Amino acid sequence: MAGSLAMLHGLLVSGFFLLFLNAEVLAVAQAENHPGTKSHSRILILGGGVAGITAARTLHRNGFHDFLIIEARDEIGGRLRSHTFGEDTTVELGANWVQGTQMGDGPSNPIWDLARKHNVRTVFNDYSSITTYDESGPANYTSIINDAIENTDKISELAGKRVARNLVDLNARAGYSLVGAKPQSAHDKVAEYFSFDWEYADTPSASSLAAAGLVRVSQDAFSDENRLSIDQRGFKALITEEAKEFLRPSQLLLDSTVRTIRYTRSGVQVTLSNGTSISGDYVLCTFSLGVLQNDDVTFKPRLPDWKMEAIQSMTMTTYTKIFLKFPHKFWFNTEMGLFADKERGRYPVWQSLDHPKFLNNSGILFVTVTGQYSERIEALPDQQVQSEVMEVLHSMFPKTNIPSPSDFFFPRWHSDPLYRGSYSNWPASFTRDHHDNLRASVGVRECERLWFAGEATSFKYFGFLHGAYMEGLSVTQEMITHIHQSQCGDEGHFDEV
Ligand SMILES: Cc1cc2nc3c(=O)[nH]c(=O)nc-3n(C[C@H](O)[C@H](O)[C@H](O)COP(=O)(O)OP(=O)(O)OC[C@H]3O[C@@H](n4cnc5c(N)ncnc54)[C@H](O)[C@@H]3O)c2cc1C
Ligand SMILES: *[C@@H]1O[C@H](CO)[C@@H](O)[C@H](O)[C@H]1NC(C)=O
Ligand SMILES: *[C@@H]1O[C@H](CO)[C@@H](O)[C@H](O)[C@H]1NC(C)=O
Ligand SMILES: *[C@@H]1O[C@H](CO)[C@@H](O)[C@H](O)[C@H]1NC(C)=O
Repeated sequence: MAGSLAMLHGLLVSGFFLLFLNAEVLAVAQAENHPGTKSHSRILILGGGVAGITAARTLHRNGFHDFLIIEARDEIGGRLRSHTFGEDTTVELGANWVQGTQMGDGPSNPIWDLARKHNVRTVFNDYSSITTYDESGPANYTSIINDAIENTDKISELAGKRVARNLVDLNARAGYSLVGAKPQSAHDKVAEYFSFDWEYADTPSASSLAAAGLVRVSQDAFSDENRLSIDQRGFKALITEEAKEFLRPSQLLLDSTVRTIRYTRSGVQVTLSNGTSISGDYVLCTFSLGVLQNDDVTFKPRLPDWKMEAIQSMTMTTYTKIFLKFPHKFWFNTEMGLFADKERGRYPVWQSLDHPKFLNNSGILFVTVTGQYSERIEALPDQQVQSEVMEVLHSMFPKTNIPSPSDFFFPRWHSDPLYRGSYSNWPASFTRDHHDNLRASVGVRECERLWFAGEATSFKYFGFLHGAYMEGLSVTQEMITHIHQSQCGDEGHFDEV
């Protein structure tokens, strides 16, 4: 009995081994058929966004040149994504601001450093340059906006006190109520939206109070200045120009969509949508939280429960900019406009690119929606969204003869399988341990082959470009230390939260 079991086991093992060998041979053969695709790299970096490019630069600076970035799109930059609008103007569909610069000789935002290094054209965006409207046209509720901003400061103070005492997290809605802010009117609601949702792309009830406090404090670490990119190369120039300084063509594979990530005790194997396999010793996955949540990529074996729970417990939200181009400017001369609809979150924040500071005489105006409202409009045909937006403009400017837009565009981040949303948000049920697990590497019997980095893995700066940058840097440094120290050894995670 025992003997035949052992024999059976032996057969299974060699069968398995053969299968594995076949796959390897196939991968090599495929690679040989297609010069430019290497079959094996020491480190595979999945995704060519800010985290992926920063990871590559970190490897390069540490003398690791045997790495390969695999990116689905035909360019790098990820959520730094521009679009040619109205024939010849570059607008930003994704990230648009450097959020926090530098105070005196204090710490600087690394994104600000890159923007300056590569002469990316950014302009200070004055959030107090704002004209307010409601369903009956212009309406002055500036003082309500100021109150809302004060209330948001109060909830971060409350958050700080609670975190210091190690109290349970609440949602930001509870925080607002506890500081006495209970928005009732359309004006109250849009003012709160402007000071909260417009940043988090999510509602106060869906957001953690503790994290809201943290984000405020973190942002002030650099400065509270927000600079809007109007660079006609695209805001992405900060990372594409940086990549040109070190990245070799053989280290970047574009137009290559990852379908499967296999990890074993001895290495990793990534399979692309066209069947090609590429192997490596380690893999750094920088795909968005939304991609990880939606099974667009399959992990073999499936990720451990502690990892799955962390991935599914943070939120991927959506922030949507809707662009309109008109033959001439007929709207406010401030940098922004606010529209108070009875329905909270209905086409609330308007920004004028046609402003002497930005793209003067461009005729371009855009409005932002977030969260559930973004998901709603993504499901509608463009034409319907355009008529809703035009209807709002007619409410804001009842006495104006509004021309038809000559161009109209908005991106669908939530439905895009390469993103599944715009950025992460921290809900109240998500804990610090969950977040550590989201960031932790995954191993097979203590061999940590699979690493994760991206905006979502940043504890202090989740959601931001500088969060993606800092994670690309620090996770890669940790991976390098791990590689140098030993082949194996658990990096640590919480088995249960
Ligand atoms: C609308 C919007 C507005 C924003 N505004 C700001 C802002 O003003 N300021 C700010 O600091 N931050 C802002 N952000 C956030 C910022 O853009 C992100 O935090 C940052 O760009 C994330 O970088 P990343 O490298 O972590 O991820 P990504 O940029 O998503 O990089 C991951 C890469 O993986 C690729 N990929 C995905 N799936 C696959 C696959 N299966 N196979 C191969 N490749 C794949 C993607 O194409 C992408 O290039 C905004 C984001 C959005 C969407
Ligand atoms: C709006 O009201 C405030 C006072 O609440 C005032 O200071 C400001 O000048 C007014 N703005 C306009 C455009 O009338
Ligand atoms: C599959 O994709 C890789 C990477 O983009 C490419 O090099 C290769 O030529 C493709 N193979 C086939 C069969 O199309
Ligand atoms: C912006 O355009 C207007 C004409 O519409 C012009 O008067 C003004 O000088 C321009 N401002 C700048 C800074 O270019």
